[in-house]
Amino acid sequence: MRGDSGKPGCGRSLLIGTIAAGLLLVVLGRRAGWWRDPNRLFTAFYDLIAPIYDRWAGEGGLMRPLRRELVDMLDLEPGDQVLEVSVGTGANLPLMCEKIGPSGRISGVDISEGMLAQVRKKLPSIPCAVELRQGLAEDLPYQENSFDAVLHLGAINFMTDPRRALEEMDRVAGPGARIVVSDETVAPVGGLRSLLSMAILRLVPRLRPPTELVPDPHPQLHYLAGGYLYAVTWRKA
Ligand SMILES: C[S@@+](CC[C@H](N)C(=O)[O-])C[C@H]1O[C@@H](n2cnc3c(N)ncnc32)[C@H](O)[C@@H]1O
Repeated sequence: MRGDSGKPGCGRSLLIGTIAAGLLLVVLGRRAGWWRDPNRLFTAFYDLIAPIYDRWAGEGGLMRPLRRELVDMLDLEPGDQVLEVSVGTGANLPLMCEKIGPSGRISGVDISEGMLAQVRKKLPSIPCAVELRQGLAEDLPYQENSFDAVLHLGAINFMTDPRRALEEMDRVAGPGARIVVSDETVAPVGGLRSLLSMAILRLVPRLRPPTELVPDPHPQLHYLAGGYLYAVTWRKA
């Protein structure tokens, strides 16, 4: 298992937050019949929780080492142009900006206007050029070969069309660009936990790392945060 963000506290708090959010989504989604199109459900959900998202999963606290580890995987250089797909409230922007410096440029896209409104409040404190767009991961509003690196954290598992979103990330990445995609899982990491993990993954297959959906024959798979998070990475051909 890779990295030091593997502190169980971080993984557990992610899992507890996810279970709480999941229960809320099941209740809301059933009432509105939203499960037929998860993207609609998640737009409403993230618009609703945007003002309090940073208290639970903002850039500080338990999530910070994990965010740093993912940003490190991007191999960013000064002056790079980087895209975060599902940028949320912008919690990863300061870390990416540190790496690319004032000559670099960050683009962020998210389905939720509410989340993007939170990022806009932070922009004055981020010393990099940041451009934000409202849009779908499955239909990215950028031309092909536009970025030196692409990051995604936290939504791919339950998108309406994860394969399409991964293809889109690959399309907009430039030749040789690093793509890092991360979301929750339950890694089979030994003993009783392995059995439990296998049962959970069978029950909720969308928690499996999407290595087979990636448009690259040999993506790398890392486990982080005590095995409660995966990172699938590849380079654009
Ligand atoms: C758990 S948050 C993660 C936010 C941010 N990446 C972070 O690290 O804090 C998931 C984000 O994905 C966005 N999202 C969900 N489905 C999406 C889709 N199909 N296209 C674009 N964004 C999406 C949500 O609006 C939300 O902002």
